[in-house]
Amino acid sequence: MATIKVNGVDRQFDGDPDTPLLWFVRDQLDLTGTKYGCGTGLCGACTVHLDDVAVRGCLATVADADGKTVTTIEGLSETGDHPVQVAWRDQNVPQCGFCQAGQIMQAASLLSANPNPSEQEILDEMQGNICRCGCYQRIVTAVRQASTGA
Ligand code: FES
Ligand code: FES
Repeated sequence: MATIKVNGVDRQFDGDPDTPLLWFVRDQLDLTGTKYGCGTGLCGACTVHLDDVAVRGCLATVADADGKTVTTIEGLSETGDHPVQVAWRDQNVPQCGFCQAGQIMQAASLLSANPNPSEQEILDEMQGNICRCGCYQRIVTAVRQASTGA
């Protein structure tokens, strides 16, 4: 039995410990903001925080998260006003929206580790998050706004 604190609430899982974290949060907990894209760690749509660090939910397993803290887009801010979310709205970042939860979680993880990243550091951090709508310029602008250097 795995116990994982998800968005501040202790949750149990007694299935296969190799189950991807993505399926645990989406199918068991109904937290469907986290998206399935490629399933192979290549797109970032499934990004969540594991102990405050961005991970790919399709690669991390329930066993990896046992005893740890997971945050999904639903838990990033109770009121939806995390600085990254505010900047996303200000910059009108999303187009279709599919990649956006992953983008926001990746950006929030970056800023929690490095509150004032350079443009290159933003590009390096965000490069694994694919946006098929091509919102990349607005993503970088929004991360800059959300950083202390905006
Ligand atoms: S679905 Fe996990 S990286 Fe694409
Ligand atoms: S907004 Fe459509 S995939 Fe990024």
